[in-house]
This record gives sequence, structure tokens and C-alpha cells, in this order.
Amino acid sequence: MKPIKAGLLGLGTVGTGVVRIVEGHQEDLVMQTGSSLTIEKILVKNRSKERSITVGPDKLTEDPWEIINHEEIDVVVEVMGGIEPARTYILEALSRGKHVVTANKDLMALHGQEILAKAAENGCDVFYEASVAGGIPIIRTLVEGFASDRITKIMGIVNGTTNYILTKMSQEGASYEDVLKEAQELGYAEADPTSDVEGLDAARKMTILATLGFNVNVSLDDVSVKGISSISKEDILYAKKLGYEVKLLGIAERKDDSISVTVQPTMVNRSHPLASVNGVFNAVYVYGEAVGETMFYGPGAGELPTATSIVADLVAVAKNRNLGVSGRRVFTPYKEKKLRTAEQ
Ligand code: NDP
Ligand code: HSE
Repeated sequence: MKPIKAGLLGLGTVGTGVVRIVEGHQEDLVMQTGSSLTIEKILVKNRSKERSITVGPDKLTEDPWEIINHEEIDVVVEVMGGIEPARTYILEALSRGKHVVTANKDLMALHGQEILAKAAENGCDVFYEASVAGGIPIIRTLVEGFASDRITKIMGIVNGTTNYILTKMSQEGASYEDVLKEAQELGYAEADPTSDVEGLDAARKMTILATLGFNVNVSLDDVSVKGISSISKEDILYAKKLGYEVKLLGIAERKDDSISVTVQPTMVNRSHPLASVNGVFNAVYVYGEAVGETMFYGPGAGELPTATSIVADLVAVAKNRNLGVSGRRVFTPYKEKKLRTAEQ
């Protein structure tokens, strides 16, 4: 089988993990797809920056068009983050018939429809498993695993940084500022951590989950959001005394013909499994009319866990291509219809 050739946009926390997994698990990847997987070029902002992995200097480029216009590259992996120029690069890559894998929830929550429409127009795959809950394959689970059910509620902890902060404040009495700094050093936080601590990152993820779970086009404006920046150590210790842990919970519910999506700090009774989801871990409950209650748990951020989702998407691209079914838009159940929000 022809090799699958990828171009990476970004070599930060997630991009580095992708390189490590592609190199470290090559044999297993070939066994699954029959094709080898190679990384041809990697876009970075600064080629001279010191990096934690060694990459051939001819692989690094500061020119995105060396990847987007590269004739042999089949798939572009966007792990640079932010809206622009990532949106433009992805649209241009799709216009040239390249498949796209992205970890970018900001982009998929705000411009998912535009990107998926462009992919459909050009017969390309767009996969974005890493955009929600890092290493938990929750998108694939919602779209494929629960395809037969009617999902009524999705609830969980979908931001690793804030859960790391709340856990350390609760268990070690650590200060908010110190733990946020630690989460940044560990590569969990967004480039601008305001989106983590103000609940925006979780809101974007809940937008994606609600859209896929309920098969309607939920927009970011439909989500009511409150972050953790005003939660003090005293609040957390007081809640603890009463038998609760404070967690930043995302809840998306559908009742009859209306939906509501919220993200807010919540007092969770210590007897509830979500109360013991600690550190960078995430957990997502999915309630289906037929299946009842299910729960998915795992690392929500970080280099290798997030990269497992990206490389799994690359395997999906390779399998589709080898079967000749690329562009069947597996994860794109966006519909024009929009349900009313609970407030309406
Ligand atoms: P980093 O900030 O660690 O890395 C970003 C990379 O992109 C860097 O290599 C940087 O280059 C490059 N880059 C950024 N902007 C440009 C630009 N304009 N032109 C060229 N190169 C650019 O980000 P992360 O790896 O943490 O995150 C990447 C994406 O993955 C984001 O969308 C994030 O939300 C998402 N994500 C992150 C997770 C995590 O745990 N970190 C988990 C799940 C999703 P240089 O190295 O030269 O600075
Ligand atoms: N900043 C995000 C988090 C990265 O902490 O959950 C994973 O999406």
C-alpha cells in the first residue's frame, strides 16, 4: 500500500507527541493500515527554537505553503491552535484535496460547518478527535458507538487545566496562581489560559459534543458559561467540609424540543464518581434513551494522551483512503435545524 504522508502545522506540546507516537508505534500503525505513515514537513514559528525532540532540520519550515502546496502530502495535521491563520491553512489544504486532522476546538466550535462543507466539496476527511477530552475517544464514541441511540444528556469534566487547579487547591491547599503556572509548564493550558479558567475552552468542547450528540447545530452562543477564576481556596475548603468537591462541569441536555448547554463550577457530592476525577483527568457521562448511563474517563490534556487521538485519526484517514471511501464525512452530522435553548 502507498505510504500516508502527513504535514504537521505546529510542533508544540501536541505536535511533539504526534512525532513521538508516529516514530514509536510505526510497526503497529503499518499492521493496522498496511501503509507506513511518514511526517514530511513541520511548520513552526521559529526554526531555531530549542526543542525536546530532534527533527531533521530540513523537515522544519516557517513557510506554511511548503506543506499546503506539497504535492505528496496526503493529510495536514493542524496542531498550532488559534483561529487565524489555522482556519485559512485548513481551508486551503482542503481546497487542494488534502485530508485534515485537527486538535483545534476553538476552530471547530466556531467554524466547524465551514470546514466540513469545504471537506465535503473536495471529497476530504476532517477528523478532530483530539479537540475534546484529550486522550478519551469521546467523539468517535458519540458518533459511532451511540449511533443507534437517542442521547439525552452529556455531562462531565472536559477541561484538564481547571481540574488540575481545583484538585491541587482542594488536596494540597495550593494557590490558584501557583497551580495555573504549573499547568502551563506541563503543557496542559491553552496559549492564552484565560480560555481555560474562564470556562471558554470547556464551552467550545461542550458545543462540539452537543452538536454531535444531539445531531443539531449548537453554537457557542447557546452555551451559558462561568469559569473558576473567582473560586477561592476558602470556597473549596468550605465545600469540602460539607462533603463536596468543586468541579467545573459541562452539562448539555435535551428535553422535548429544547436543549440547554452550561459550563459552571459545581459542588459535586463526594459520593459521586465525578468528585474523584482528579488532576488533568477528564470524565464524560453520556445518557442515552436505550443504553442508560455510561461514563468515559481518561487524561484530558498533555503531549502523548492528546497525540494518541491525533494519530488514531491519521489511521482513520489511511483506512478510508485505502478503502477508497475518503470524504464520507464520518463525523459531520451538522444540520441546518437549530433547537431552542432552554431560556427561549
Ligand atoms: P503549543 O503552543 O505548545 O504549540 C503550538 C505550535 O504551533 C508551536 O510549535 C508553534 O511554533 C506553532 N505555531 C503557532 N502559531 C504559528 C504560526 N502562526 N505559524 C507557524 N507556526 C505556529 O500548542 P499545543 O501543542 O499545546 O496545542 C496545539 C493545539 O492542540 C491547540 O489547538 C490546542 O487547543 C489543542 N490541544 C492541546 C492540548 C494540550 O494538552 N496541550 C490537548 C488537546 C488539544 P514554535 O514551536 O516555533 O513556537
Ligand atoms: N487546555 C486544554 C485543557 C487542553 O486543559 O483541557 C486540552 O483540550
